[in-house]
Amino acid sequence: MRIEPAAALVGDVAVPGVKSISHRALLLGAIADGDSDIRNFGRAGDTESTIGALRTLGVEVTEDEVDRVHVRGVGLHGLAEPGGPIDCGNAGTLLRLIAGILAGQEGKRFELVGDESLSRRPHERIAEPLRKMGARVETTDGGAPVVIEGARLKPISYELPVASAQVKSCVLLAGLYAESGPTVVVERGAPTRDHTERMLRTMGAQVQSSPREASVWPVERLEPLDVELPGDFSSAAPLIVAATLLSGSELRIHGVNLNPTRTGLLSVLERMGARITVFNKRMLAGEPAGDLEVRSAELVATTIGPDDVPLLVDELPLFALAAGMARGESVVEGAQELRAKESDRIATVTSSLKTLGVRIAERDDGFGVRGVPSRPKGGGMSSAGDHRLAMLGGVTGLVSRGGVDLEGAEVVAISFPGFFDLLESVTRR
Ligand code: S3P
Repeated sequence: MRIEPAAALVGDVAVPGVKSISHRALLLGAIADGDSDIRNFGRAGDTESTIGALRTLGVEVTEDEVDRVHVRGVGLHGLAEPGGPIDCGNAGTLLRLIAGILAGQEGKRFELVGDESLSRRPHERIAEPLRKMGARVETTDGGAPVVIEGARLKPISYELPVASAQVKSCVLLAGLYAESGPTVVVERGAPTRDHTERMLRTMGAQVQSSPREASVWPVERLEPLDVELPGDFSSAAPLIVAATLLSGSELRIHGVNLNPTRTGLLSVLERMGARITVFNKRMLAGEPAGDLEVRSAELVATTIGPDDVPLLVDELPLFALAAGMARGESVVEGAQELRAKESDRIATVTSSLKTLGVRIAERDDGFGVRGVPSRPKGGGMSSAGDHRLAMLGGVTGLVSRGGVDLEGAEVVAISFPGFFDLLESVTRR
């Protein structure tokens, strides 16, 4: 795909429902008592994988409209043991979260498989706490396939060795099945996204959380969901960065999730000098949401440390580009987790942005950027099969002098199938 340089982004848009919450609504709806109705569902490759996985487990999922899904809950213990593997595709959130639920399906055996990227990613991080709770879990060289034999679980208190909402959620979901409560997850560093805790609470589970600790008590049943999801901040992020970097931009993005555990990029851009206004603040599906107005701005460099990282973990590739066009030297440190994403994002972001003319250097735990307030030259890059890299390529094309030839642009559909069309609809050349 060829992305030509743009002059500005102008107009009003909305982005698809939060992917993280869409996965959770499907998975928790499946083990609720009754039918769940999910509107503004974030339909994408990853959430299709979750629908497919649930169907393999005997759950009826109907898709009435593109962005509306019904899930017929089978109750906490009603998932069927499938005849074959459960395909998680590219979706780490699916594999890690469903593992917590399957661990509690006493006497049943499940095999979770995924694509090449998911098979290589570290899954011992969920196997270890689930074993402590009493399930039998085997990974394949630390990755997938992951085999789980459900058991009667006991509660644990578990300190997260890595800042990961997926691991936290996996343990909390298993905690729903523990013999007695509570199951406690302790976070040493900055808090990770709390969508699971919020949703469990709306479904009637007893959950206590503070920035350092989340606890869940076993439940008899979960209430079904009736929710309209806000737009995904991570899908709004490329638009926010592009509008900030293109002078003359004035872009409004409506109905965006503003959960404070997700909006680290907003605070970081604001301290760099961005002009972003939040209005129409409201609650959607138990989550803070609002409309954003982004106007272009000149940015200055900043440093991102380990405690900032979980709050913008999926936006760090876009931050690298913004830092490349900001005045001064920016650094990201304490972000080793980027190496365990859909691609090794420290390697893929630095090598592709370098080729496109950004002065960026890899570090073990992040990257350093020598920003210059002018357009990078552009050129060719590959998504490396990673949807966040595809979006980065799209935005870099718009803000570059010569455009970007993006190989593997189609993987954007893993989280945001309409990304390039939406971007084009607000682009002024
Ligand atoms: C997610 C958590 C994050 C994030 C991923 C989605 C979630 O992963 O990168 O895109 O929905 O819980 P980690 O928990 O591995 O950091």
